[in-house]
Amino acid sequence: MSIAEKFVSMEYGPAPEDSKEAVAWLERHAFRFQHFISGAWHPPAAGAYFDTIDPSNGEKLATIAQGSAADVDAAVKAARAASPGWQAITPHARARYLYAIARLVQKHSRLFAVLETMDNGKPIRESRDIDIPLVARHFYYHAGWAQLRGQELPDHIPCGVVGQIIPWNFPLLMLAWKIAPALATGNTVVLKPAEFTPLTALAFAEICQEAGLPAGVVNIITGDGSTGEALVKHPDVDKIAFTGSTEVGRAIRAATATSHKKLSLELGGKSPFIVFEDADLDSTVEGLVDGIWFNQGQVCCAGSRLLMQESIAEVLISKIQTRMSTLRIGAPLDKAIDIGAIVAQVQLDRIRKLVDQGVADGATCWQPRLAMPARGFYYPPTLLSNVHPTSIVAQQEIFGPVLAAMTFRTPSEAVELANNTVYGLAACVWSESVNVALHVAAQIKAGVVWVNCTNLFDASCGFGGYRESGYGREGGREGLLEYMEPAWFKNAPMLLPELSVVSSQFSEKAANTSGHSDDNLDRTPAIDRTVKLYIGGKQARPDSGYSMEVRASDGRLLGEAPLGNRKDIRNAVEAARKATAWPKATAHNRAQVLYYCAENLSQRRDEIAQRLAAVVSEKQATAEVDLSIERIFSYAAWADKFDGAVHNPPFRHVAIAMNEPIGTVGVICPREAPLLGFFSLVLPLLAVGNTVIAVPSETYPLITSDLYQLFDTSDLPAGALNIVTGYTSQLLKPLAEHDDVDALWCFADEASAAAAKAMSVGNLKQVFTNEGRAIDWFNPKVAEGRWLLEHATQVKNIWVPYGE
Ligand code: NAI
Repeated sequence: MSIAEKFVSMEYGPAPEDSKEAVAWLERHAFRFQHFISGAWHPPAAGAYFDTIDPSNGEKLATIAQGSAADVDAAVKAARAASPGWQAITPHARARYLYAIARLVQKHSRLFAVLETMDNGKPIRESRDIDIPLVARHFYYHAGWAQLRGQELPDHIPCGVVGQIIPWNFPLLMLAWKIAPALATGNTVVLKPAEFTPLTALAFAEICQEAGLPAGVVNIITGDGSTGEALVKHPDVDKIAFTGSTEVGRAIRAATATSHKKLSLELGGKSPFIVFEDADLDSTVEGLVDGIWFNQGQVCCAGSRLLMQESIAEVLISKIQTRMSTLRIGAPLDKAIDIGAIVAQVQLDRIRKLVDQGVADGATCWQPRLAMPARGFYYPPTLLSNVHPTSIVAQQEIFGPVLAAMTFRTPSEAVELANNTVYGLAACVWSESVNVALHVAAQIKAGVVWVNCTNLFDASCGFGGYRESGYGREGGREGLLEYMEPAWFKNAPMLLPELSVVSSQFSEKAANTSGHSDDNLDRTPAIDRTVKLYIGGKQARPDSGYSMEVRASDGRLLGEAPLGNRKDIRNAVEAARKATAWPKATAHNRAQVLYYCAENLSQRRDEIAQRLAAVVSEKQATAEVDLSIERIFSYAAWADKFDGAVHNPPFRHVAIAMNEPIGTVGVICPREAPLLGFFSLVLPLLAVGNTVIAVPSETYPLITSDLYQLFDTSDLPAGALNIVTGYTSQLLKPLAEHDDVDALWCFADEASAAAAKAMSVGNLKQVFTNEGRAIDWFNPKVAEGRWLLEHATQVKNIWVPYGE
């Protein structure tokens, strides 16, 4: 074809990226790869291998070691052996290693990009211009954190040995998201790449060698789900970080419940892409191309649900169809390709099946007439319209180039539809009105909201989900915390089950520093009382009609507390959900209510201390009340100070990181400090706008009768705090299993902590426990402040473009 003819037809010619370097690299390894353990290559103990293939043509690329439990064990041992040395070097030395890795990623970026595209099937344009530059950026950013960690997080220590399991959709990028923060904070790592895409992780192993990283700091074990399972179950792993399907995330939550492994999960999504009638529709369509056809839609935060304002639906659909007809699908190494191959046959089958089900549910399926490659795993860009919000294609992650379109009329309907899913990973809002966009962004339950943009990522901006999209963040300061623990917490002794033993942990020193003496407490016996539950701002009788006896430390009967059950928990959750005035209140107003609580408690100091002195020593009782007053003051102070941040990613955007309340939180309060323990947990949650269902200590549930008066007289809105008394063993389960409880805090013995985690797999609620460790509630340095506030909130990043 002559140039003149080309100008007329505007046809693309082939523009393949050169794969010579990547093929030479495969040849150098004789197309066969072993595990990377302790800085060297090791054959699999069981001698098993599997093939990785090029999804663009179905041909084999290389043979890969299949990891067994023995291989995992060898890698964990290597990581453990390397741990003391890696922690002992200076922050600056760790920063230098991370910096060297970043430089080497850039130096070998072409090899990485081509290898990624060959193994995964994604267009070279994406691996070259998005994945690999973001990988380098992640290591540079975390080299900075390695340097600053000692100054910025001096009271935190690394988890130790970290097991990391990653998926196939962004193989090297997910590796970077996991390895960079882990190393920066002083952990050593065993990483398992996905079985479909192990090659760039193995090339990265060579980068570690080239950077001179000490042996055992990074270990890479290849294999399938069984290898991942062995890593999750290994007893000497301190933390698991996982990205992948919600189903496997659930299995990992269950498998780690009885261990003390820290866990972060980045799971699936069904992200809404909301278009208002005043949006710039042409930009919106381009955004949509990135939102759903980027990486063939195999993106956890893909904008897979298009929500259009009814008035523009017809014109928008027509523009989308026109644009879809110009997308080019084909060989991913071709630089002018928009849509590459699906990662594997099994994924292609899954996409086909889900689309068929969507059509059977009544959706209309539209696909452009595109030239499809003859070989390999390809699926055309697909638009499903007339999708019912309850249809499988509106609810389940398809993980393919398939857009499900629906309409809405008003902004509130858009929010309702957007949140009508079990997931909460990401959302896009398109509107030229900054008021509408930000108002809607604030109401969407998702870890990231892109305003008039889509699929932007940066190492400085935490990424992660709400609800069944998982918990924990990757990137930013919050991402670092996933790889660390407060030093005191990691070293805290385990609680002994007997309260008498626990009480002895009360420190006389703390009581003495509280500035009050207990001389004025008289020793008259406590009044025999019967209390009620406190639900929705009202005293309520328990559903069971039964009560539990409450006895003093000397065995005297002090009173009766209701035995709450599942129904009471249900009522309390309903009341908490209805208490929308509290999360919507301004931080200033929340602070005012808390100050008022402190004032009211201080007026009743002696009376409450006297009653409490029936179950703990008089000295402890006074200290608990005095420190509770102080603690309420502290959280009143924090209420309008636990701010978010504004990040400056290297684009023309700001990312506004908001500390949002998690929602409705169940709290099991500790036995050892009945009043102070209650306040220490409930206050940080209330201060940032959560609603709470608290189960007070079994030791002294009579506290409820004092507390409800306190909260009533302090103008706390009805339902913001609900108190259900009863046995932890009976109330933990209904709290853990209730879908409308967004998080569970359980501060009790080790078995309860494990049960809380195991029973929360249903809706994957965040679980925060003391791991059965003793906490010195009398020491504000450990029992108050940021550590608890960070668990009481989740970060939402709202990206807003600026400039032309
Ligand atoms: P997957 O969740 O099974 O695989 C992710 C990783 O977990 C892989 O490295 C795999 O070997 C490992 N794994 C599997 N079973 C495990 C177990 N029991 N214990 C520990 N590790 C285990 O995802 P899969 O099967 O590849 O894809 C299925 C669906 O999952 C996709 O269609 C998509 O909907 C979703 N998915 C979501 C991802 C995300 O980024 N949110 C990434 C990959 C898949």
